[in-house]
Parts: sequence; C-alpha cells; structure tokens
Amino acid sequence: MEHKRITSEIRVYDSIQDLPKPAQELMRAAIGIKTDAYSPYSDFQVGAAIRLANGEIIKGNNQENSSYPAGLCAERVALFYASANFPDQSVDMMALTASPIDAPNDQPVPPCGSCRQVIAEYEYKFKKPMEIFFMGDRGKVLAVESIKTLLPLAFDRSFLK
Ligand code: THU
Repeated sequence: MEHKRITSEIRVYDSIQDLPKPAQELMRAAIGIKTDAYSPYSDFQVGAAIRLANGEIIKGNNQENSSYPAGLCAERVALFYASANFPDQSVDMMALTASPIDAPNDQPVPPCGSCRQVIAEYEYKFKKPMEIFFMGDRGKVLAVESIKTLLPLAFDRSFLK
C-alpha cells in the first residue's frame, strides 16, 4: 500500500489593507454588496465579487427562499451571472466576506462545498486557476491560489468521458 499526502497552502493577511491592490478592490466590492443580501431565514449575509479576464467586476450576495433549498449562495449568484452574460471571460479572482447580521466577527468564511464544486467547474472550463480571498466582517483575510486547495481530488468533466 502506498500513502499519498495532499498539502494545502493558504496565505493569511492581517487585514484588507495588506492585500494586493486588485484583491483589495475586489474585497471592497464584496463588502459593498454583502449588506444587500436577501437572507431573512438565516440572517447570515454573504458578499461575493469576481473579476473577469476583461476586467469586469461582477457582484453577488446570498438569495434565500421560504422553500429553503430554492435559495442560492452569493458565490453562485455571481458566477452564474458572469457565465450567462460573459461566457467567454475566465474568472480570475474571487473575494468573499460573510457574517451573521447581528454578530459581525473576524472569522474568515470559506465557500461551501457546493460553491467549491461550481468554482471548480469554471476553473476547468477556462483551464485557469481562480485566486480566492475570504474574510469575515473584518480582520484577517485568507487566500488560496486555486479551488484545488479547498477541493482536492475534485470531480470534473474529464471523468464523464
Ligand atoms: N451561503 C453563501 O452565500 N455562501 C456560502 O459559501 C455559504 C453559505 C449562504 C447560504 C445561506 O443563505 C446562508 O449563507 C446560510 O447558510
């Protein structure tokens, strides 16, 4: 039997001010859209902003529904809008910020499992990594080079053939 080790590298920035300029700009866009989330059931707000290859910035926030599974995460709201309207533009960077409405905190919130799978789809489509930055409401920002860090051994369309 052979053992294989999967390692992950995550960068930790002390605050949004320490981010490279393009990431800082994107995170500010995510912060701006977060408070417009429609989240009356969880009272948890998520803001996502993505930068496309043509420089376009697309924003999304979580959209909930009385039929709970019908709601959608902020990341997928932004990614599906981008894919529908700019189908030929790769998504190069994503910024995320999230926290409960009544309890802002400094806990960086990573994308959920379903969003990781959707991010992986677009990385695969464009054969380009998507750098992801995520934070809570304030404080430290975590960053990964690609969704591969958060979703190793991903299922992708190569297995369907
Ligand atoms: N949520 C997101 O928008 N993105 C994630 O990656 C995790 C969860 C939303 C879904 C729901 O509206 C609320 O946060 C609580 O789960």
